[in-house]
Amino acid sequence: MAVFGLAAGLMFVLTGCGRTGEREKNSIKIGVSVYDQYDTFIAQLMESLEEAVKEKEMETGGSITLEVQNAAGSQSEQNNQIEDFIHSGCDVVCVNLVDRTDPTMIIDKAKSADVPVIFFNRELVEEDLERWEKLYYVGAVTLESGIMQGEIVAEAYKDYGKRLDKNGDGILQYVMLEGEAGHQDAIIRTEYSVNTIIEAGIPVEKLGHAIANWNRGQAQSKMQQWMETFGDKIELVLSNNDDMALGAIDAYKAAEIPLSEYPFIAGIDGTKVGLEAIQEGSLGATVFNDGAGQAKEMLKLAYDLAADKSLADVEYMEGRYVRLPHQKVRWKE
Ligand code: BGC
Repeated sequence: MAVFGLAAGLMFVLTGCGRTGEREKNSIKIGVSVYDQYDTFIAQLMESLEEAVKEKEMETGGSITLEVQNAAGSQSEQNNQIEDFIHSGCDVVCVNLVDRTDPTMIIDKAKSADVPVIFFNRELVEEDLERWEKLYYVGAVTLESGIMQGEIVAEAYKDYGKRLDKNGDGILQYVMLEGEAGHQDAIIRTEYSVNTIIEAGIPVEKLGHAIANWNRGQAQSKMQQWMETFGDKIELVLSNNDDMALGAIDAYKAAEIPLSEYPFIAGIDGTKVGLEAIQEGSLGATVFNDGAGQAKEMLKLAYDLAADKSLADVEYMEGRYVRLPHQKVRWKE
């Protein structure tokens, strides 16, 4: 059980019945540190977490204090934030790691204070998760996103083949916009989307690939360079997330190229802005990464851990992993 911050004024009540060790607190405190608060997907996930907190408060009648900090790309800053959360009496901490290979300090501190940790979105390696029984991970079914992106491109090719394959050579010339180096989603999506297209029997030719760090502006400038080099030879833009796909669209808009001449652009996430671009027809497809669902499951888990209840309530849980499924979203005429 977490170190209850009586000194910090936290109160808890024991419910009379229930399983041994099961108790409800009427006031819990959760500390959250995100790797970058300006990341579109993360910002949206945090909005959902705040909504989930309100819903849970209504449902339970208790109070939940959510303290959110931005690590702004610094692992050492994040380590300090977690240390502060623990000292200020947080019952649980939720960590969106800056460097997913470097959770040691956080794990050591949390373990010595007996405060459970829920890592989310940026996945630590299994050996690290195994280091203590109160470490959890909430995220998506990683492989699925890349596979689904490839499948939608293959489906679109079957439906609108000639329009995708502009030069009619039977090969899809593509460029790949990759997320951060070393991020589990960037690695998996890059590999699986292309392989799935090839497995569907569609020959491809890579014109270029670049790391744009999940970032719209960086993706726009990469896309501008490719447009100068390859012009309308580019038939497909595969992007590891929606924000970078939107950056590619920004490049086409800035060049005043008509929508009908855009290549097929595919993202992943289904963020609000991504879905708007699908409506507009500039984004051909995306794969919905259920950030709201992840936030909800994370809150349930945090609440149960803080209340020391059994974790049977949390959906999609396998061992200490909670992984939510994706959904395909495609523009249709
Ligand atoms: C999302 C990206 C986001 C990244 C942050 C990924 O799962 O698809 O949009 O930038 O997580 O870690």
